[in-house]
Amino acid sequence: MKQFRPLTVDKIQQETRDSVRIAFVVPAELQSEYSFLPGQHLPIQVELDGSKLRRTYSICSAMGEPPEIGVRIQPGGKFSTFAAARLAVGDRIEAMPPTGQFVLSLDPANARDYVGFAAGSGITPILSMIKSSLAIEPGSRFILFYGNRTQATTMFIDDLYALKNQYMDRLQLNFVFSREEQEFEPMAGRLDGDKVRELYRHFGAGLRATDCFVCGPDTMIRDVTDALVDLGMPAEHVHSERFGVPRKSAATTVTVAPKAAEHAQITVIMDGHRKCFDMERDDANIVDAAAAHGIELPYSCKGGVCATCRCHVQVGAVTMAANYGLEAWEVEQGFVLACQSRPVSESVVLDYDKV
Ligand code: FES
Repeated sequence: MKQFRPLTVDKIQQETRDSVRIAFVVPAELQSEYSFLPGQHLPIQVELDGSKLRRTYSICSAMGEPPEIGVRIQPGGKFSTFAAARLAVGDRIEAMPPTGQFVLSLDPANARDYVGFAAGSGITPILSMIKSSLAIEPGSRFILFYGNRTQATTMFIDDLYALKNQYMDRLQLNFVFSREEQEFEPMAGRLDGDKVRELYRHFGAGLRATDCFVCGPDTMIRDVTDALVDLGMPAEHVHSERFGVPRKSAATTVTVAPKAAEHAQITVIMDGHRKCFDMERDDANIVDAAAAHGIELPYSCKGGVCATCRCHVQVGAVTMAANYGLEAWEVEQGFVLACQSRPVSESVVLDYDKV
């Protein structure tokens, strides 16, 4: 099973007034375990005021580099406030190996046009995709549409301009600001469906877009995805990742059967080993029920977003309360989020080794 292991903080840098970036050193013996694909995230765990806190942050560095995350400081946010005020270079933070299916698979032989739509801190995984694709695929281009309130609140703007200087012909940057006047009218406003159609009218001509990557809050994801599909992009080529827990109504609720079983035996397979425990209808979800039996299953957000708890139903059926983290094909193939799942059948076998 993927374990939390201590990584040393190598660098902390103020990114904007309300965000920081944190780079980690990975010990030599953990290099392969902590290697990542562009777009993946890093679940982290800290102990604050006597209780453990888990968060998941997307990695912004390029594939092959040490992991670096971008953290937007949320008013009242426990981890982000701690990271901004108390975390210091040399501290150790527990991190699980990078995970996540919102990834860009690269091949040096590819010659593709990738398109990214990011809002606010949604740029973090897309920045990793930009850096990695431009470095690894000399024949590919990246077109970014990036929405923020103002230039001053735009995360990683210096990195983006530096990349533009390095890859002048292969990176196209389109900044959209909602609270700053723009000389060119289409670059003002919010990244919603109408804006995507307008931007595509101006910048989409001649694009050989193969895959679009969308990251931001829930409404932005839905608006942008719907507009891209309307514009002719096949839905399976539009990949998205939300940040934050969306409104309840926006969830893809998956109901394999209507009612949770009165009593069930759950078997989990991890690293080839099996562990069993019993679960009752009153238990909130499989992750918590396992913990009550002394079995720790992977999790981070427990909100159905990060997919750290993703596993495959090998036997039986479960019902998920919500799913913001799995794509349709994953659900069709039997993957579930254990933090949102309760058993429907009396026997359930969950495989954490299947990817
Ligand atoms: S722990 Fe994040 S989706 Fe389950």
